[in-house]
Amino acid sequence: MGAPQLAMIGMAVMGSNFAQNFAEKGFDIALFNRTDSVTKEVYESAKNEPYADKLHPVYGEMPDLVEKVGKQGTYFIMVKAGFPTDAMIEQLLPLLEPGAVIVDCSNAHYKDTARRHEEISPKKIHFFGCGVSGGEEGARHGPSIMPGGYSREVYEEKLKGPLEAVAAKAPQDGKPCVTYIGNGGGGHYVKMVHNGIEYADMQLIAEAYDFMTRALGMSAAEIGAVFEQWNSGVLESYLIEITAEVLKQQDPSGQGQLVDFILDAAQMKGTGTWTVISSLEISDGVIPLPGIYAAVESRAISWKKDARVTMSKEFSFPVTQYEGDKEQIIKDLEQALYVAKIACYTQGIELMQAGDKEYEFGGLDIASIAEIWRDGCIIRANFLGDITDAYRKNPPSNLLLAAVFKAAVTEGMTAVNNVCVAAIHAHVPFMAFDASRDYILQATSERLPQNLTQGQRDFFGAHTYKRTDKKGTFHTEWSGDRSEKEL
Ligand code: 6PG
Repeated sequence: MGAPQLAMIGMAVMGSNFAQNFAEKGFDIALFNRTDSVTKEVYESAKNEPYADKLHPVYGEMPDLVEKVGKQGTYFIMVKAGFPTDAMIEQLLPLLEPGAVIVDCSNAHYKDTARRHEEISPKKIHFFGCGVSGGEEGARHGPSIMPGGYSREVYEEKLKGPLEAVAAKAPQDGKPCVTYIGNGGGGHYVKMVHNGIEYADMQLIAEAYDFMTRALGMSAAEIGAVFEQWNSGVLESYLIEITAEVLKQQDPSGQGQLVDFILDAAQMKGTGTWTVISSLEISDGVIPLPGIYAAVESRAISWKKDARVTMSKEFSFPVTQYEGDKEQIIKDLEQALYVAKIACYTQGIELMQAGDKEYEFGGLDIASIAEIWRDGCIIRANFLGDITDAYRKNPPSNLLLAAVFKAAVTEGMTAVNNVCVAAIHAHVPFMAFDASRDYILQATSERLPQNLTQGQRDFFGAHTYKRTDKKGTFHTEWSGDRSEKEL
């Protein structure tokens, strides 16, 4: 039994599972929670596991933990983001010596991570903000890990070994799903965008389910079978796989499918909203994220269940059945979901690149980020291998321009139009699909109607405009003699 050089602070579901993952991979790790009984419970439940001798429960206060792990040890913190994380760091920091490492594995906001860097770095203690995706199962058996901090050298020396050991291994080539992401809050920024994409992916799936339920009159079990089949095509992914599982689940009281009895009000902890907020804060100009925005908005509307019930009594937009070829529209739906998914990833990648410039993460490597998302995380999918290939060989200026995605979008736009039109006729809301369609049309249009917007702005506010036929900045005297001046 060796002395632990690693510690896991926080013994809730994620922390206790992550600690056991380290132990199983051969690392001695101290277990600590602010309440001893929680640590005891975790240790007791794992004490017959083959790796139990690697688990070192520490009871008492933070100094007892530091005595065990050392003033220059490596401390993973996996408590709630925000105040609880600050509280743990505050207790830990005065006990450590230069050279120690603190790794915050919560879903922290990247600005909090940047602030913590500023507070901790002057003490010569290394701080890393580390995104961890994959839920309880991932933490235990292999998550996707996104560490960010100011020293790649310290990462290589102290974290790379343990993190590569506990990370998921991509089935395609066995590579561990972890890489040094970049400076400061880079790891948490990338995790935040991962979650934004997760929201969009989930919303598109929910809309496809809704369309099949209401416009095609299919049962949850029938739709589950469709998703199961889709999981062996271009949409192959964890989220499609679990959608089939959720839809096929029987209600325990035998009334049919469980999903039909789950309240239609989605919660959110905030990472999707942060993604949208961040896109609005980029100083070079807002980054458009309509797919992710639609997902956040749709969850927000769903949450107002009582208000919706009241409103539904005042308005009537009856859902009508789709009258075309059902088999064909399901095929179109699969293709449209793929195209819309590409649109959402395009938006997420553009935001990561803009965030990289804005917050100086030091050059995010999109190929490597997509590579470590191939397994372990919630958005894991085969498709991420194609994004890796696209950015590693000859990085396109926009994901839509990578040959494989350009072809998919070009071929799939008819299917997107078909399903959007069908949803409109059926009165089925389709916010993420519609937003994705509009995004692709706008982003690939040489001409948009914002010439008129510019004219209006100049009319009411003398905000000036540029012309297409000559250089310069212009203003028209709209309420006077309507003459145009070059400024
Ligand atoms: C992950 C998940 C994880 C968590 C989300 C859920 O990558 O493992 O994204 O971080 O499940 O925070 O977020 P909402 O509660 O906002 O849906």
